[in-house]
Amino acid sequence: MPTFFSDTTSLQNVIRDIIVPYTAVFVFCDENTEQHCLPLVESALTKAQIISIPSGEQNKNISTCVVIWDKLTERVADRKSLLINLGGGVICDMGGFAASCYKRGIDFVNIPTTLLAMVDASVGGKTGIDFHNFKNQIGVFSEAKEVLICNEFLKTLDQRQIRSGLAEIVKHYLIADEQAFRDFVEADRTEFLYPDIEIIRKAIAIKSAIVEADPWEKNVRKKLNFGHTIGHVLESIALQTNASLLHGEAVAFGMGIETFISAFKSLIEEKDAELICYALHSTFGLQALPEVLTDHILAYAIQDKKNINGVIRMSLINAIGSCMTDIEVSADEIRQALAYFNKSMDWYNK
Ligand SMILES: NC(=O)c1ccc[n+]([C@@H]2O[C@H](COP(=O)([O-])OP(=O)(O)OC[C@H]3O[C@@H](n4cnc5c(N)ncnc54)[C@H](O)[C@@H]3O)[C@@H](O)[C@H]2O)c1
Ligand SMILES: [Zn+2]
Repeated sequence: MPTFFSDTTSLQNVIRDIIVPYTAVFVFCDENTEQHCLPLVESALTKAQIISIPSGEQNKNISTCVVIWDKLTERVADRKSLLINLGGGVICDMGGFAASCYKRGIDFVNIPTTLLAMVDASVGGKTGIDFHNFKNQIGVFSEAKEVLICNEFLKTLDQRQIRSGLAEIVKHYLIADEQAFRDFVEADRTEFLYPDIEIIRKAIAIKSAIVEADPWEKNVRKKLNFGHTIGHVLESIALQTNASLLHGEAVAFGMGIETFISAFKSLIEEKDAELICYALHSTFGLQALPEVLTDHILAYAIQDKKNINGVIRMSLINAIGSCMTDIEVSADEIRQALAYFNKSMDWYNK
């Protein structure tokens, strides 16, 4: 489990203790986290060397890893060096991957600075990069030495990014905590737009319990992929077309469409599917997708890492707060669900 902080003074004290045994400390960040987040911790990192890259998913690739490895090599970083990832999911995923490969692995610490990275990307040991427009195509499982979570960083994060992280929180509720989802639907959602540390802690507790039960994603961990088969497809299409789509936004669409797949397969009652999709629509502003995307979505879904022998497999909810894994889904079922999803979104807008 990560360590939680609601102020940066105690976070800095812990960072000071953590870095003591290391021969060199590198902070990996992007231009935004260098500007907004580094100042909140830099008094604990006076001897650290900064590796800063341009922000954005388009830089989560092998060329940026080469930049990191070049810097570590130039500065003669040995195996007792530490890489601190200070940033969102892009920084945590890529920094974790780069650290795990450098000299067969140096320690890394995640200090996530987006809500999405706090509740998802920074915990669970998945690291990696995108490759040829395929999301997270190259990567390794590698646990961060420490994960330090402080919601003070969220003060400089814009609302669109907060909402993107909120999608993963809602996913955690939908796969594992019915009451939390129903409370969320009833709640004044504004309290989730600068979530306090308890909301974050609870969302992480759900993920951590699942990851602990199955660290290598052989069975129950696959539940966390709910919304992600279609979500990753949409992200891949967005990467290819330079469209602006955040991970959580893609996952919100993915959860909506996959909920209707569940309904078509009679895994979930229609009224629950409608409740979920309306909540997703009203929280995340989901809209109908252009018809022309349907064939692209199917073509990409075939490539999903979870498929076996070309058969599309998904994690699908079978009730609010419960999820089944490795459900075979046909291209026709995806097509039907997409059509129904588009109709529903148009209907909710009326
Ligand atoms: N490893 C996993 O288990 C896992 C889980 C979920 C998502 N992910 C990955 O995470 C990535 C998305 O993460 P993300 O949404 O955090 O994106 P991101 O890292 O691109 O951060 C979003 C934007 O916010 C900026 N930013 C970060 N912190 C800030 C702050 N405190 N104040 C102001 N600006 C700030 C960044 O510079 C960037 O422009 C995707 O690549 C996704 O695949 C991984
Ligand atoms: Zn995700």
